[in-house]
Amino acid sequence: HKFPVVVPAAGVGKRMQADRPKQYLHLHGKTLLEHTLHALHAHPRIGQIYLALHPQDPYFGHLPIADADWLTRVDGGLERADSVLAGLNQIMDADWVLVHDAARPCLRHQDIDALLSLADGQHGGILACPVRDSMKRGNGAGLVATSVCRDDLWHALTPQFFPLPALREALQHALTEGHTITDEASAMELASHPVALVEGSPDNIKITHPQDLALAELYLTERSK
Ligand code: CTP
Ligand code: MG
Repeated sequence: HKFPVVVPAAGVGKRMQADRPKQYLHLHGKTLLEHTLHALHAHPRIGQIYLALHPQDPYFGHLPIADADWLTRVDGGLERADSVLAGLNQIMDADWVLVHDAARPCLRHQDIDALLSLADGQHGGILACPVRDSMKRGNGAGLVATSVCRDDLWHALTPQFFPLPALREALQHALTEGHTITDEASAMELASHPVALVEGSPDNIKITHPQDLALAELYLTERSK
């Protein structure tokens, strides 16, 4: 059967320093958001996409996909977690749900496959890839406080995939308690749910800074060859 996805796309893209939120920047004639949504929708096991947008978003309505019946638009919130929760609260009938950043347009079909296989097991999990560089913790004053062992250290990516009722409850609880949570896994961890690490492709980058756009363009060009 198919799984619903929440796509948070209500951010302003402050670090990108562009003239519009980064999800509306263009790559190969399409917005980043369209690349992301098409990557999800092209997968046969992906169902309805709940898209969290800024309540005053002036861009989405002009896209060719604005009226697609596989998209449900919801108003996002102040933080990413608020936007995700707004999306989750629109889903009526699902056992499992994916959450995927609008700002990750290079998602691969086989990474979705790998993540969805968790639905056969006991608990949810996330796409992640092993850290490559040596890791340091700073002392807050420009010096290295300590080296952090790189063994079993991972970059947390999206999609993240969890049972819907547990995720909804965990996110709601974390927000009520005032925790800073940058992804779904951190809310699940706080609620003591196990979170599986599923190794994904390192080219599933989040467009965050201006130079990331050229990298995403390269990855998408390589793939279309
Ligand atoms: N997001 C959201 N609602 C928010 C904040 C972020 O839906 N209130 C979404 C973004 O649109 C993005 C994803 O969450 O797709 C990851 O967030 P991030 O990369 O931090 O995007 P922005 O918040 O837009 O960027 P910045 O932090 O640089 O302002
Ligand atoms: Mg942000």
